[in-house]
Amino acid sequence: MERLVIVSNRVPTLRSQDPAGGLSVALKSALEESGGLWFGWSGKVTEAPGSDWRVNQHDGFSLATLDLCRAELRGYYEEFSNRTLWPVFHGRLDICRPERKAFDTYRSVNRRFAEVLTPLLKDDDTIWVQDYHLIPLGKHLRHRGVEGPLGFFLHIPFPPPQTFAALPCYRELLADLCFYDLVGFQTEACAENFRHAVAEFLDAEPGADGSLRMGDHVTQVDAFPVSLDTAAFAEMAQSEEVEETADQLRDFMGDRQWICGVERLDYTKGLAERLRAFATALDRTPALRGHISLIQVAAPSRESVPEYREMRSQLEGLSGSINGRFGSFDWTPIHYLNRTFSQKQLAALYRVSRVGLVTPLRDGMNLVAKEYIAAQDPEDPGVLILSRFAGSAQELTEALLVNPFDISSTAEAIQDALEMPLAERRRRWRQMKLHLDTHDVHAWRNAFLDALAEASADSSAVGETRAA
Ligand code: G6P
Repeated sequence: MERLVIVSNRVPTLRSQDPAGGLSVALKSALEESGGLWFGWSGKVTEAPGSDWRVNQHDGFSLATLDLCRAELRGYYEEFSNRTLWPVFHGRLDICRPERKAFDTYRSVNRRFAEVLTPLLKDDDTIWVQDYHLIPLGKHLRHRGVEGPLGFFLHIPFPPPQTFAALPCYRELLADLCFYDLVGFQTEACAENFRHAVAEFLDAEPGADGSLRMGDHVTQVDAFPVSLDTAAFAEMAQSEEVEETADQLRDFMGDRQWICGVERLDYTKGLAERLRAFATALDRTPALRGHISLIQVAAPSRESVPEYREMRSQLEGLSGSINGRFGSFDWTPIHYLNRTFSQKQLAALYRVSRVGLVTPLRDGMNLVAKEYIAAQDPEDPGVLILSRFAGSAQELTEALLVNPFDISSTAEAIQDALEMPLAERRRRWRQMKLHLDTHDVHAWRNAFLDALAEASADSSAVGETRAA
């Protein structure tokens, strides 16, 4: 395989104590196998603008990182990526803040990424750009003469055309995506939304195979549901170290059942609705009181963005009021933990929890749902309650699927999960685990890169035919 170059806003941390999380967990394991170069923001913020970048060598691959100055970080990351694209792509038009100036900074940071990256590239590199922070990057690379295979994968949902059009620059962003040879989405529904948006807003020709032709260039469009390294995660969950942590948790739990929720503290994750559903279950069934607890991990995230700070105080208030109302001297209904935990600690939590509660209001995929399944004890697996609006619900169909906006039915699902007989738990879990065994992060990476190689060959052939 040619050298693989991954570009993303955040580069993975190379410590073993990584916090939980979608993008870096999925891609780090892909990169470790394939070698190559990973390029992205260093995480450092400088006072004055400048192009300070560096390359470090790690086991079998290089990590090249670029600093951003405060103004760039604000416009490109906080304002445009996180306060405009993120809410619009998740259907939250009510809190989106489209600002021209932030869009300009987003564009100029993408241009700077291309400026710094281009000289580090070799002719036959395969370039794979990740996520919404870097939509225009492909166009800038092409303008600088980069000719190799160029793919883009969107980790978050792609909304229906009319929602997408709430962005001030929606036509430009769509056209930018059409510079890639392959654009990948988490689900077929997201790929369809993109095709419809392009058909509606750009002068592109749809192909019978779902591709889009703009002038001489063909962009392939497809779904590639991201996954985890299932075997490695399952093995880690059974390791001695995890088992020791799990034993400590079991001692602490006594004969109570645990329900766990694990996410970044984000308004898309349905955390308030989840806490209310849990309180509704306690309210309706007094027998549950004293016998179940919800352990909710809400890892701090994007704290410089006001909507995230508001969400944090809302959740602190809500968990406090539910504990105040139902708790007793010797029982806390909700353990609300606003901090990060290592993958091993989380694996232990998944393993001892009878129910995994994953109820985002909208989510591109949600790897926590997959991690929960991978971590279970085959002899005594827990039950996954999963939002229908997470991409993973397309694959994990044996979960108890819920509408997270419907608090009452989520409360019912909690009760059903707690009462589910062992035979049914095993049957449901086995089917989901079998699926994840074959549909893991390696299969995801291979499927995307094979499709990219094909798309880039087809695209060159079209260019040559037209030129002839
Ligand atoms: C989501 C996005 C990723 C992002 C992650 C953490 O999973 O798809 O691109 O890296 O959230 O968000 P942050 O803003 O901290 O990078």
